Amino acid sequence: MSGESPFETPADVPLVTSPMVIMAPRPDGFEAVWSVSRLSRGRLEWRFGGHHGESRMDAFGMTPQGESVLRVRAEHLPTGATVQVRAVTEAVAGPGERHVSDWKTVRLTDPTTARARIAVWNDTHQRDDTIRALDAQTPPVDLLVWNGDLCNDWTTPDQFVRTVLAPAQRDISADRPLDVIIGNHDVRGDWAFRLQEYIGTRAGRPYSAVRIGPVACVFLHTGEDKPDMHPTFHGRVAFEPLRAEQARWLREATTSPGIRDAPYRLVFSHIPLRWTDESAVDYDDGGYDWFSRMSRDAWHDALVAWGAQLAISGHTHEPARIPADAEFPYAQIVAGGPDLDASSSEAATWIEIQADPDSLRLTMRTLDGAVRMSETLEPIAETEAAVPKTSD
Ligand SMILES: [Fe+2]
Repeated sequence: MSGESPFETPADVPLVTSPMVIMAPRPDGFEAVWSVSRLSRGRLEWRFGGHHGESRMDAFGMTPQGESVLRVRAEHLPTGATVQVRAVTEAVAGPGERHVSDWKTVRLTDPTTARARIAVWNDTHQRDDTIRALDAQTPPVDLLVWNGDLCNDWTTPDQFVRTVLAPAQRDISADRPLDVIIGNHDVRGDWAFRLQEYIGTRAGRPYSAVRIGPVACVFLHTGEDKPDMHPTFHGRVAFEPLRAEQARWLREATTSPGIRDAPYRLVFSHIPLRWTDESAVDYDDGGYDWFSRMSRDAWHDALVAWGAQLAISGHTHEPARIPADAEFPYAQIVAGGPDLDASSSEAATWIEIQADPDSLRLTMRTLDGAVRMSETLEPIAETEAAVPKTSD
C-alpha cells in the first residue's frame, strides 16, 4: 500500500480499503484481490529481473472493475519466478482519483524445487486476537492454507473485507500467498453467495490442485455439515452436485503430470474425511457432520487411486490424528479451534509443513508455541505410485 494506512476511515473514505491479497498461486501467476470503497477499475503492474509488464484483463476482456472488490489475474509469468507486483486502482467517477499500492514480492509455485514449506490456519471465526497471534507466529511460506470457517455467518454484506481481505486489519498474505478453503460457516447467512467475489482461484472454482516442490496439494470443498435440503439452509446450498463435480474433477486432476507423481500427496478440506466416532447422525434432531461422509463417499476411490497420504482438516475444533489403515490408506489430521488461550478445549493451532527429498514433517502448535501434534511422511517413490491407467 502507499504510505498511509489503508485501514483509516477519515471523513473522506479512502478509495482502497484493504491490502492487495495474493491468492491461489500457480507456477505462472496468481490472483490479486483488494477492496475498494466505490466503483473502480484495477490492474497489476509487475517486474522481475529487468522485465516488467502488467495484467489488466478480466475473463471477458474487460478491465477488471467492481464497486466493492477488485480481482485481477496475473498469467504467463515464468514458472516459479519471484516477481514484484503492485496494484493500480482508479475511481470511475470524479476527478481521476488513483491509488498505487506498494510493491509486494510474490514467489510463484515451483514444482521443480527440492523443498516446500506450507502453513495451515483454520476455524479463525473472525477472532481478531487469534488472527493477530497466528499472523505473528507464522513464518514466510510458499503457501498459507486458510482451511475454512473464516466466518460465522454472513448476515450482512459488509463483513467480507474485514474477514477475508484485512482480517484483524492485517495483510496476512505478505510473504505468504494464500489459499482459502471454504468451510461450512463460510457458506452460512443470506450474503454467503457473495463470498466468491473475494476469493482468488486457480480455475474459477473452489477446488484445485497445485504442486509446490515435492508436495502435491489437492484442495476440496466439503460443503455444509448437513444435507442440502436441511430446513436450516432454506434452499441456499447445492453441495451434493458440487461434491459429484469434484469427484469427476479429482479423477482428472490426480492423473495429471506433477500431481500424479509427486513424492508427497496431501488433501486439504475444511470438514474432515474421517473421524474418531463415525456413528450415524440424526439431522432432524440437531445432529450435524463431524466428518463429511457425503464427501468421502464421493471422493474416496479417487483419493486411494491417487495415493493420497494425508488429509488435513479443521471443523471439529478438537485436534485429532487418525492413522492410515487398510480401508483408509490416507491418515487424517484435524487441527484446533478459534480460541487464543492455549489451555482452552477449543484452542487455536497452526500447522507447519516442511518437505524435502527425505521426508515431509508436519508440526501442529498451539499459540503458546507448544507442539500439539506431529507427523512424518516418507516420500512415495515413483515406481510405487498408484497411478491409474489413463485412456490416452
Ligand atoms: Fe469452525
